[in-house]
Amino acid sequence: MAHDVVLIPGDGIGPEITSAMRRVVEATGVDIAWHEEQAGAGVMEEYGTPLPQRVLDAVAEVGVAIKGPITTPIGTGFRSVNVALRQAFNLYACVRPCVSLPGDGSRYHDVDLVIFRENTEDLYAGIEFDPGSPEVAALAGLVDQAGLRPFRADSAISIKPISEAGSRAIVEAAFAYAENCGRHKVTAVHKANIMKATDGLFLRTAREVASEHPSIAFDDKIVDAACMGLVQDPTSFDVLVLPNLYGDIVSDLCAGLVGGLGMAPGANIGASCAIFEATHGSAPDIAGKDLANPTAEILSAAMMLDHLGETEAAERVRAAVRATLAEGITVTADVRRALTGSTEGAAGTQAYADAVIAHL
Ligand code: NAI
Repeated sequence: MAHDVVLIPGDGIGPEITSAMRRVVEATGVDIAWHEEQAGAGVMEEYGTPLPQRVLDAVAEVGVAIKGPITTPIGTGFRSVNVALRQAFNLYACVRPCVSLPGDGSRYHDVDLVIFRENTEDLYAGIEFDPGSPEVAALAGLVDQAGLRPFRADSAISIKPISEAGSRAIVEAAFAYAENCGRHKVTAVHKANIMKATDGLFLRTAREVASEHPSIAFDDKIVDAACMGLVQDPTSFDVLVLPNLYGDIVSDLCAGLVGGLGMAPGANIGASCAIFEATHGSAPDIAGKDLANPTAEILSAAMMLDHLGETEAAERVRAAVRATLAEGITVTADVRRALTGSTEGAAGTQAYADAVIAHL
């Protein structure tokens, strides 16, 4: 029986990389019934929202989706569709493996770490108030009542909720993964020395969960020190668990350790639903030019195949990607540039997907 999967192509490079990904998945022979749904700025006029109810209904019914990136206007305009999807389905675990690939053009080798980013709360909860709003005035009153140092009257305010339940869920997911996938250590990343209430709660909860999993080593690192450690010796890390904002930033840093954003896959996992997507955004600078590297999206599809129980096909996809990159002949411009300093002779998005398919 076919696996139902919702496909959201997204915008920018989304349609190009999802079409490459779909062709690779189809070439594995796994039977998938694709339900294509559109979201983002392109549907605003028709539906009055970048995330139409029909997309939410389709994902709720099917329970598995793979998407391309979706542009979020900066500073003004609609809120992120990506964040809204994660919140709508309580996709609390953002899982981002960063693994060195042969010929990935990176200066590091043997990187093999996995990021567990909390995906629903923190400064991404979307609780923000503009300068001069009644909410900012009310908060100023609360700060005054509490005897805390006042903030400037012309401030905008973002609220950073970190809950015990949210922290526990992501740390437990990280430990369960470590136990099931032969990993040895979980590192909690935080800034609890400064944000004692929010990050302090995250760290205390992580320590509690760690004590329930004695077979897995546990340590913690302050986020700035963790960043330095990652660029100095990424091989000293195994599984990292982080609140939302640090997880977002550190996962791009880690993508840079394994050849860049075009190489880093990801999954957003909840209790009843999973949405797979590359770590990168819509890359408007290269959109529509057949320049994007679809590896991250193809490897996200491999994670999806694992999730669907198609583990053999997932491994074939990963092996075909490794073989194509190791050969180093048909690679996209980002990889060619990293390897040779020039993009001359680089392959396009679809030609690279053809090479991966040939290796399957
Ligand atoms: P970005 O990840 O789109 O691009 C950063 C740089 O990496 C650019 O130079 C781009 O050309 C390059 N790049 C990214 N993916 C690549 C690929 N597959 N192959 C080759 N090069 C690649 O980040 P940026 O520019 O900050 O964001 C653009 C838009 O994407 C924004 O609107 C942002 O909100 C959105 N975004 C969406 C995400 C999602 O849908 N999950 C995640 C991150 C950002």
